[in-house]
Amino acid sequence: MPKVLVTRKIADDALAILRKSCEVTLGPDESGWSRAEILDAIRGCDGLLPVGHAKIDAELMDAAPRLRVIANFGVGVDHIDVPAATARGIWVSNTAGSLTETTAELGWALILSTVRRIAEGDRYVREGRWKGFGPFFFLGTELVGKTLGVVGGGRIGQAVARRAPPFGMRVVYWSRAPRPEFAADAHRTLDALLRESDIVVLTVALSPETHHLIGAPQIALMKRSAFLVNIARGTIVEEAALARALVEGRIAGAGLDVYEKEPEVHPDLLRCPNTVLVPHIGSATIETRTRMGIIAAQNLLAGLEGRVPPLALNAAEVRR
Ligand code: 8YV
Repeated sequence: MPKVLVTRKIADDALAILRKSCEVTLGPDESGWSRAEILDAIRGCDGLLPVGHAKIDAELMDAAPRLRVIANFGVGVDHIDVPAATARGIWVSNTAGSLTETTAELGWALILSTVRRIAEGDRYVREGRWKGFGPFFFLGTELVGKTLGVVGGGRIGQAVARRAPPFGMRVVYWSRAPRPEFAADAHRTLDALLRESDIVVLTVALSPETHHLIGAPQIALMKRSAFLVNIARGTIVEEAALARALVEGRIAGAGLDVYEKEPEVHPDLLRCPNTVLVPHIGSATIETRTRMGIIAAQNLLAGLEGRVPPLALNAAEVRR
């Protein structure tokens, strides 16, 4: 029986798929393992199903000379050294498509809570500070008639954009090349999108090109009344520059699911009332996390059986 390591507990339905034909070593529930524990547990394994964002690098792969497949639990693989895996003939797969709608829903939850000051209002009520109605009390910003700027034209960007028309919003987007899923006249340069949008939503994958894509010069292009929402990866934004812009009122607010040094959050962001901060929960719904587990397990099994995992990212380079 091949040996597989699943670094944290995932849905029982997903584990059942693996247990039929593999010997499964399972990591802890929520706390996760230390690097040393993962290094130790991976020895002798044929397959790895990493859950979370611990670094999966060359040293770890070399600790498991029999490793044939890394089936990531999630879409973003910025924590996995894919070229190192390819060089060792290891397939790397993700769960593309499993979390598109759920992450888009979180994007809209952040948009709505940011513009209507939901989290701030909740704190206000709970703290017993609410004294009653006022015509200028807790004013937010209307979405109808406004422009949504979607940074990234992939699955999640498209799913965020699809939800805009019912709110009466028009959509512009930025991606390397125009995409047929968006209106023909909606494609913009990043600078143009930042100038034009009332809400900017980041949905791009993290890569060397998108690292710090949004820094002080880009934020300076945004309207003072605009909001920034990040449901992609924290390091796409220069967090200190964003925090400064929010403190100085250079933009109106931000809704963030991801941060540069998770689980740390820039102290100024914590102090800003015009931010809504959630703890990297883009894919955190029961349905999606179950689906992610099942898809990752299916990819892992395929690889162990010598078939190209259905969602392999390096299928062209790794041939058996
Ligand atoms: C998960 C994610 O938090 O899929 C991604 O890229 O960011 C999230 O779904 C993560 O992958 C958990 O392993």
